[in-house]
Amino acid sequence: MSLSVSLGSVKLPNPILVASGTFGYAKEAARLLNLSRLGGIVPKTVTVSPRPGNKPPRTVEATAGLLNAIGLDNDGIDEFVEKKLPYLRTLGCPIIVSVAAKTLDDCKIFGERLNGESGITAVELNVSCPNVSGGVDYGTDPKLCEQMTRELRRNLTAPISVKLSPNVTRIADVAKAAEAGGADMISAINTCYGLSVDWRKRKPRLGNGCGGFSGPAIKPIALRCVWQIAQAVKLPIIGIGGVSCVDDVFEFMVAGASAVQIGTANFYKPTITTDIIDALPGEMEKAGINDFSEIIGTLEM
Ligand SMILES: Cc1cc2nc3c(=O)[nH]c(=O)nc-3n(C[C@H](O)[C@H](O)[C@H](O)COP(=O)(O)O)c2cc1C
Repeated sequence: MSLSVSLGSVKLPNPILVASGTFGYAKEAARLLNLSRLGGIVPKTVTVSPRPGNKPPRTVEATAGLLNAIGLDNDGIDEFVEKKLPYLRTLGCPIIVSVAAKTLDDCKIFGERLNGESGITAVELNVSCPNVSGGVDYGTDPKLCEQMTRELRRNLTAPISVKLSPNVTRIADVAKAAEAGGADMISAINTCYGLSVDWRKRKPRLGNGCGGFSGPAIKPIALRCVWQIAQAVKLPIIGIGGVSCVDDVFEFMVAGASAVQIGTANFYKPTITTDIIDALPGEMEKAGINDFSEIIGTLEM
């Protein structure tokens, strides 16, 4: 029996990764779990220049999920390469660096800073953050998504996964655009655009107004997106959205994902990833699965 998965040229020791923005830069979690056991870590998204993020409150709980409007708070790509990457590359698990570009020119800078750096398994292009205003929306317009993916592909040597937003009418069209632009993988999904209201104050609960909804409640949306993407492109898919147990992992695989990322569940159960990794062999045996490739994309509709 093997826990490893292949996503094109990217090989992962197991299919359980942590999602960007829910695991910091991993240092914070090091005393809680053995990070070397993870299938991969996707650190918080970095931008070319530092960003202060949105005004608080930045997170608020809702029924069966979490709303956030962090606003891509980060110290910029230079700090990331100098201060965060040296630690991440010591961990002994795959690192998928998450980047968000505001302009096509940013892709050149990501290439200049990241090419040649060791310890980067792949780069995830976040075109789907709902909490940043003022920029062009590369995640909702297929043409712009293709352009941005192509520009990063031209500048970067590492494999690229394009992380898609569920906040579109036809996610398959955006996935096809990413494929046409040269993406190696698709990550799906980012958060669902939502709003929490304090009716007594006549105010939104988040400082930014609207935010991104995540957690168990979005799993059916994520599964639908993964399935639609799997029908539309040949690229391997990393499923994200409400994963919190072994059955969820299998559900995403059957829908078409080769691996999953866990986000919100890290907040209420910090050992969720290694708990699932521990449980996988037993559950695979019970289900008669020797290799995940036996079930990936086997959903019959
Ligand atoms: C507090 C918070 C911050 C997040 N920050 C990022 C981010 O910086 N970049 C990104 O691509 N996704 C970010 N996400 C989205 C997650 O990576 C993930 O796509 C989403 O939460 C759905 O997965 P989940 O239901 O397992 O949380 C964030 C999510 C949360 C809850």
